[in-house]
Amino acid sequence: MGSSFKTSCFGVGAPFNGVFLALGLVSMTLCFSGAFSELTKFQQGAKPDGSLDLLVVGDWGRKGTYNQSKVAEQMGRIGNEMGIDFVISTGDNFYDNGLTGVDDPAFEQSFTSIYTAQSLQKPWYTVLGNHDYRGDVLAQLSPVLRKLNSRWLCMRSFIVETETADFFFVDTNPFVDEYWAIPNEHSYDWRGVIPRHRYIETLLKHVDVALRESSAKWKIVVGHHPIRSVGHHGNTVELDQLLLPILEANHVDLYVNGHDHCLEHISGITSPIQFLTSGGGSKAWRGIDDSANKDGLRFYYDGQGFMSLSLTPDRCEFVFYDLNGQVLHKWEISKELHFAN
Ligand SMILES: *[C@@H]1O[C@H](CO)[C@@H](O)[C@H](O)[C@H]1NC(C)=O
Repeated sequence: MGSSFKTSCFGVGAPFNGVFLALGLVSMTLCFSGAFSELTKFQQGAKPDGSLDLLVVGDWGRKGTYNQSKVAEQMGRIGNEMGIDFVISTGDNFYDNGLTGVDDPAFEQSFTSIYTAQSLQKPWYTVLGNHDYRGDVLAQLSPVLRKLNSRWLCMRSFIVETETADFFFVDTNPFVDEYWAIPNEHSYDWRGVIPRHRYIETLLKHVDVALRESSAKWKIVVGHHPIRSVGHHGNTVELDQLLLPILEANHVDLYVNGHDHCLEHISGITSPIQFLTSGGGSKAWRGIDDSANKDGLRFYYDGQGFMSLSLTPDRCEFVFYDLNGQVLHKWEISKELHFAN
């Protein structure tokens, strides 16, 4: 699949569709960009037949407590059965306050020594959550962590291109007004984000351009905060206003997020977007918002678990699992294949 981006890129590691090296090293293309150029792109190999399988987990880093380890164990089992190609983390990677620095033992205690299954030794494409912004954000983004554990690929906003689908990871934290309120009960590490409005404007422009230029069969957008949710936090109005119109205009198929500690599927009302929350990586049980608008709600579970996603050029299936690996909800979308030039 060709890319029409005008970034200067060079490849590192195996070529597109290349064989993974030991430790599941990703074949990646790093694009170095200035403050206002395009988003970094990774090339991720799919299976030889073009199919792609992955897991999505969010809101997890609690040193194994709150059933994090049990979820991890089942992710390992299902991941093995599916032969997953990579993992997506929807953020809130380290509780309560992100990492204190690149030498914070929480990285090992909440990540490396928890997700130990062989099947999970694949790239972890990771966004930041609001709790991550309460610590040293630059630590999570640092290549030092990538050296400690090569599967760790955390960035603010970036793109993962595969043969079958393009994934657009969007840093949703700067959008949320509440985090910028003064006074604030928490402090956020906004280094690299201020001035806020320019950051948001630039990010939206880049996401719009990238989505428009993508010729992928499936377009999947990942952020930490939900656009729509009937959980504890609920809809993120800032994203509803600023991000959703861009996703709808560009025919995005799935919007995947965490933040609400639940598993959830809502079908779009104004467009065919499916809104999927996978935020059940550890602490859960926050109930449902009784007053929330339930239009399009297909599934809601406020306990622990994770999600899988399987894609072929004409089919997309996602499945939600609880912490015993039991299937709770399953959904399939088909697309006609077009062979037009
Ligand atoms: C862990 O999972 C068990 C079994 O589902 C559940 O009974 C328990 O409440 C969970 N613990 C926490 C802290 O959520």
